[in-house]
Amino acid sequence: MAKFDVLVVGGGGREHALVWKIAQSRLVNKVYCAPGNAGIASIAECVPIDAVDIGGLLKFARQKNIGLTVVGPEAPLALGIVNEFKKQGLRIFGPSKAASMLEASKAFAKKIMQEARVPTAKFRLISNIDEAMEFARQNDHAVLKADGLAGGKGVFVCRSKQEIMDAANKLLQERIFGAASNMIIAEELLEGPEVSVIGFCDGKTIRLLYPSQDHKAAFDNDSGSNTGGMGAYAPVPFVSEKLLREVKQKIMQAVVDKMGEKRAPFVGVLYAGLMVVDGEPFVLEFNCRFGDPEAQVILPLLESDIVELMLACVEGKLLEKDVKLKSGAATCVVMASGGYPGSYEKGKEIFGLEDALREKNVVVFHAATKLENGKIVSSGGRVLGVTGFGKNLPDSVTAAYNAVSKVSFEKMHYRNDIGKKALARGGAREWTRTP
Ligand code: AMP
Ligand code: GLY
Repeated sequence: MAKFDVLVVGGGGREHALVWKIAQSRLVNKVYCAPGNAGIASIAECVPIDAVDIGGLLKFARQKNIGLTVVGPEAPLALGIVNEFKKQGLRIFGPSKAASMLEASKAFAKKIMQEARVPTAKFRLISNIDEAMEFARQNDHAVLKADGLAGGKGVFVCRSKQEIMDAANKLLQERIFGAASNMIIAEELLEGPEVSVIGFCDGKTIRLLYPSQDHKAAFDNDSGSNTGGMGAYAPVPFVSEKLLREVKQKIMQAVVDKMGEKRAPFVGVLYAGLMVVDGEPFVLEFNCRFGDPEAQVILPLLESDIVELMLACVEGKLLEKDVKLKSGAATCVVMASGGYPGSYEKGKEIFGLEDALREKNVVVFHAATKLENGKIVSSGGRVLGVTGFGKNLPDSVTAAYNAVSKVSFEKMHYRNDIGKKALARGGAREWTRTP
């Protein structure tokens, strides 16, 4: 097959991991990234087009004769970037606008799950404050969620009537997420460990990558507010092959089949955010793209050529493909700006990157960096994702933190306990195939 150029849309840590893996493909000539960041710029050509500027991206893809466009974040998917590219005959990997509804509307996702009999928390939809207050009178704990996209911040885990009322006020009165909370979901509060199960889909077939675990809270021991994710590791020791098979069949395949029935076939990356309650998996959310920072651990553990898999998805031929995974484990520690996920300062010079890269078994993914007067400086909340590899989870944790210790920038913060809960349960399993 003739080699072609690839355009990756986005500019965070997930996109750095995507570009890194795509650049290793035997099918790829050159990689562009829009808008990219200072780390991505060392392996791809970054172009200053915003990830939601669909017109600009289309024009660029046509001009450069891009052979495949790969979309990292959810916003352009929800806006219909895939439909627009396909209309113009351009090859693009990701779900259509209709299929992206699985992430863009939690109420839609719940409806699909009900119809497909997928285990998920019991819920009700609420669209005005009176109903919400009545709900608060009847319940002592619940999880309130904005229906629409809220950058991962639209979920309130409430453990008292007061917390339910406060969350309802923020969502329905103050409308802190605007139209994203025209409707809210109030659901049963579940307890249990969380796991992210992510796989490729061609509309019919699913091929899973390793299950991974995100660390959403800002500080050690899961304290502090929720963030986009402060670190991740894979594979997850408590996810047995039996559990993963159940997730694949009863959850992922059931939803993919239902979306097919609805004439909105799911092509792209399907991400099930799960909670394991007494050994049984329940869906908390679906995403229609790779997780961030989950991508930074599962992509480096993928042995197969990612572009071959993406093309197989786009062509509806995933059944013919096997997904090979590497043995061992990976751990990613996110280094964030002081104050994140609240307000923080940008423009801090980052020191020690070269020393970190000299460490064995490490890749440093940039999440929000830019080049300023020849120096690499921070440009957002989550700045770097430092991924370490090892033959098992403890070794990967050690590799990641060794590299983290070389890097510094003013007011940085990171969690010291990524992977710790899994270590307490004892090492990582070594699989090279998922069910
Ligand atoms: P989501 O964006 O729906 O995955 O929710 C973000 C986070 O809120 C999850 O990672 C969980 O930690 C928490 N969460 C969401 N739904 C529930 C639930 N039904 N019970 C307990 N925690 C939840
Ligand atoms: N790490 C959570 C997400 O990407 O949604």
